[in-house]
Amino acid sequence: MDGSLYERLGGTDAITAVTRAFEDRVAKDDRINQKFARTNLDRLTKEFVDQMCQGTGGPCTYTGRDMKETHTNMGVTSGEFDVFMEDLVATLDDFKVGKAEQDELLNMLWPMKPEIVEVDSPQVGTPLPSAFVPGPAL
Ligand code: HEM
Repeated sequence: MDGSLYERLGGTDAITAVTRAFEDRVAKDDRINQKFARTNLDRLTKEFVDQMCQGTGGPCTYTGRDMKETHTNMGVTSGEFDVFMEDLVATLDDFKVGKAEQDELLNMLWPMKPEIVEVDSPQVGTPLPSAFVPGPAL
């Protein structure tokens, strides 16, 4: 299909709408929502949208932190990473994003798993360690 993935997803407005809906879904998911207990949501939304926009070929520049630094001391398990991806797919389904576009997006995200996961375990719903330091507000 023609056009960048960014264009096929519907541009910045569509990516922002998907991101907000994804955050709402994650917030209700007890398997991973504890990790977001101390997070500044405005920052998270902006950085996630910029990262997706840039990564899919859109006209944005990601200025957030790298994935390793961002997720340091969060104690994310491999099981929790998989839940995060499951929630993302469910959100993309809600927005009727096509299978080809979903696969392209997931292929971009899966390789980040080793930078984000700190605990090699299928366990989910693990608490946010007190050592975690959230990023500054925007
Ligand atoms: C490929 C998968 C993922 C991507 C692309 C991603 C991307 C990001 C980005 C761009 C940020 C903001 C960076 C910044 O503040 O500078 C962020 C923050 C965050 N991510 Fe992820 N993330 C992923 C997986 C996960 C998973 C699996 C969890 C937990 C289950 C998680 C929990 C968080 C939390 C809690 C924050 C906020 C950190 C803070 O408060 O400073 N992320 N992520």
